[in-house]
Amino acid sequence: MDSFEFNKIAAAFLTTALVFIGIKELGDAIYHVEKPKKSAYIVEGVAETNSAAKVEKKVEEQLASITPLLASASIDSGAKVFKKCAACHNIDKGGANKVGPGLWGIVNQKVGAVEGFKYSAALSGYGKNWTFEELNGFLHKPMKYIKGTKMGFAGLKKDQDRADVIAYMNSKSDAPAPLK
Ligand code: HEC
Repeated sequence: MDSFEFNKIAAAFLTTALVFIGIKELGDAIYHVEKPKKSAYIVEGVAETNSAAKVEKKVEEQLASITPLLASASIDSGAKVFKKCAACHNIDKGGANKVGPGLWGIVNQKVGAVEGFKYSAALSGYGKNWTFEELNGFLHKPMKYIKGTKMGFAGLKKDQDRADVIAYMNSKSDAPAPLK
């Protein structure tokens, strides 16, 4: 075998090797699968396809009833929590409206019905009463619970804070409702 012949064989080998590598690379490129960032099987994934409003509604629906916490709520602690509200709300009997309406006797009163206060359409058209549970939902996330309210307050995240402040508001009334 002369060197020319040898070169031909070597070239054939090299070419075959290159073709193999090429096929492998090509295969990787074609069959490379991007791992999805989220599993398709997570149940919450269903909510992701819903509108933000629906997801939010789900969150509100999951808010546990406040009634069990009210039974042992502290009116004194509620008075402290109410300091966050006092910048905008008076809660004394006959107290004037401030940025927000006066809140004397608010528990079980009709929503948006304090004399002389100019409510948002969202609140004046709400059409319910301030039951413990309505207050619970509203005070948790005011602007999400009643869309369009002009109460510019982020809300009370802690269940205990809401229970205490509701018990406090309930005490500020001519006829406090039973807490249990
Ligand atoms: C930045 C001012 C502000 C703060 C702070 C605030 N509120 Fe309000 N609140 C308002 C305004 C304004 C309204 C009227 C909302 C509307 O008309 O949409 C309102 C409405 C309400 C209502 C409904 C009253 C009705 O007559 O229907 C309740 C109950 C209430 N607030 C409780 C609270 C409590 C409890 C806190 C504290 C945890 C609080 N608010 C903090 C401004 C405030």
